Amino acid sequence: METIISPSLLSADFLHLDRDIEMINNSEADWIHMDIMDGVFVPNISFGFPVLKAVGKACKKPMDVHYMIVHPENYIQQTADAGAALMSVHYETCPHLHRTVQQIHQTGMKAGVVLNPSTPVSVLEDIICDVEVVLLMSVNPGFGGQSFIEGTINKVKRLRELIAREGSHAIIEIDGGVQDETAPRLVNAGANALVSGSYVFKQKDPIATIHDLKILRPQNQL
Ligand code: DX5
Ligand code: ZN
Repeated sequence: METIISPSLLSADFLHLDRDIEMINNSEADWIHMDIMDGVFVPNISFGFPVLKAVGKACKKPMDVHYMIVHPENYIQQTADAGAALMSVHYETCPHLHRTVQQIHQTGMKAGVVLNPSTPVSVLEDIICDVEVVLLMSVNPGFGGQSFIEGTINKVKRLRELIAREGSHAIIEIDGGVQDETAPRLVNAGANALVSGSYVFKQKDPIATIHDLKILRPQNQL
């Protein structure tokens, strides 16, 4: 199976979002990654529903919405109404994660759980069969363009083992510092979806870069 690619809108040109959405529409990207930040859970603020709704109308790719906010459970219906296909919430923000996942599913969206770099995959044991996606942060959430945290490679392997052991079908998605050097190693370790922001958007030919990421398969050893 080819790798799922989800370009992150955070690195787009916000004065010309239409151009960047058009690029994503014309590319082999599978999803579009949307980062919602509240300045509380993470030390940054990004964008909210006006942007989500506008992108939902213009973008032909399913919206992969990553909430870095406290109380994401308060915004489930609004997220579905904006047209999101996947809503991912941080484990660290959801004391009642099982209920939140159920509520996401009730709207028809797929559910993802996100782990910060310091949160071990072992906390997922009792939720791994209920989610479609696990999003591993390979940087501390809040900003694009940060350096990849190397320990993520072994974390992907541990998550792959947990998924196999529990009989889950969850997709392993990685977010932060994904570029040409880290992407093949992540795919070899067992990742099947990659978010990429600054790396894709700084390229002269982002469509070709998305293609190069997309064709990565586990056998493409470095
Ligand atoms: C960071 C966000 C990421 C960000 C990734 O908190 O969750 O989605 O856009 O950016 P890059 O790919 O530049 O590390
Ligand atoms: Zn993200």
